Amino acid sequence: MQIPTTSADTATIDHDFIPEIELGLLAENASISPKFLYDPLGSHLFTAITLLPEYYPTNTEKNIFTQYQDEISEAVGIGGTLIDLGAGNCQKAESFFDTLKPSNYLAIDFSVEYLQDALNKLAGKYPDILMQCIGMDFSKELIIPDSIAKTKRTFFYPGSSLGNFLQSEALELLSQIKNQANDGGLLIGVDLMKADSVLMAAYDDPLKVTAAFNLNILRSINSHLGSDFRVDQFRHKVKVNHADNRVELYLEALENVTVSWPGKLRTFKKGELIHTENSHKYTIESIKQLLINAGFESSQIWTDPKNYFAVIYAK
Ligand code: AVJ
Repeated sequence: MQIPTTSADTATIDHDFIPEIELGLLAENASISPKFLYDPLGSHLFTAITLLPEYYPTNTEKNIFTQYQDEISEAVGIGGTLIDLGAGNCQKAESFFDTLKPSNYLAIDFSVEYLQDALNKLAGKYPDILMQCIGMDFSKELIIPDSIAKTKRTFFYPGSSLGNFLQSEALELLSQIKNQANDGGLLIGVDLMKADSVLMAAYDDPLKVTAAFNLNILRSINSHLGSDFRVDQFRHKVKVNHADNRVELYLEALENVTVSWPGKLRTFKKGELIHTENSHKYTIESIKQLLINAGFESSQIWTDPKNYFAVIYAK
C-alpha cells in the first residue's frame, strides 16, 4: 500500500468579517453576504443541491463539459496554471486535468478547511501536477500571488458563481481576471434566463435541501458574530426578479424576532426579510457584452439543447 503524499500548501488570508456582517444586519433591508453560506456544513449542503434533479445548472454544465471536452480543451490549450475560483471539492477542475494537462493547479475558495481535504486527495492522485490552495474572499479583490507563474494562467470559474455578483461587481472581477490572465484566459460557466417554473423548482426544491442550505447561513453567522439566530424562527423564500434578471433568496421571520450579539441587537417583525443571495441569469448577448466590457477580446461559447446554460472560453 502506498501512503498518499501531499504536495498541497495552504495559505489562509485572515479577514475580519464582523463589520461587514453588522452593516448588513443593521440595514433597514437586512442582508447577509452569500459567501457565509459556505461554512463546512453549507458546503456539504451545496454539494447535495448539485445532486438534486431540479437543480439543472450543475448537470447541464457537466453535459456541456463532457460533450465539448475536446473542443473546449483545444480552445484553452495545454499546460500552464489552472486557477480554480471557488474550487469547492475540486471535481470540475479534475475532469479537465487529463485534457488540459496543467503543470500547476491553484485552488481558491472562501472556506479553506473544506478545500484542503479535497486537495490532499487530489495531490495523491496527480503527482505530476503541483497543487496549492489559498483561502481567499475574491468577491472583494482577486490577487494572484507573484509566486504563481505569469505565463498561461487559465482561470476556471464554473457553476455560474458569477451570478452572485451585481453587474458592476461582476465587471470588476472579470476585469481583474483579464488583467492577471496574461497570455491565458477564462473558462467560465454562466446560467441563462429561463421560465420561472424551472427556476422556482431549482431554488425551492421539494426535498427542502435549498431551504436547509439557506437557513444554515444563520448558524454560520452565529459562529462568526456570536449572535443567537434561531433557524426555526425563519423560513426560506425565493423570488424571481425579472427587472434585474435574477433569482433572489431570502429568509423570512416567522414571528417577531430579536437577535443579539456582543454589544448590538436587531429586531425583525413577523414577515420581515433578510436577503441572502442573488443568482443572476444572463443571455448569450449580455454575458458576451460583459466580457467585452471587462477587456476580453474574443470568446467561444458552448451551450445545451435547451439553452439553459453557457460555457465560455474568453481571452
Ligand atoms: C453557487 C451561486 C451558482 O446561484 O445557483 C444554489 C448557489 N443557491 N441554490 C446558484 C445556490 C441556491 C448557486 N451558485
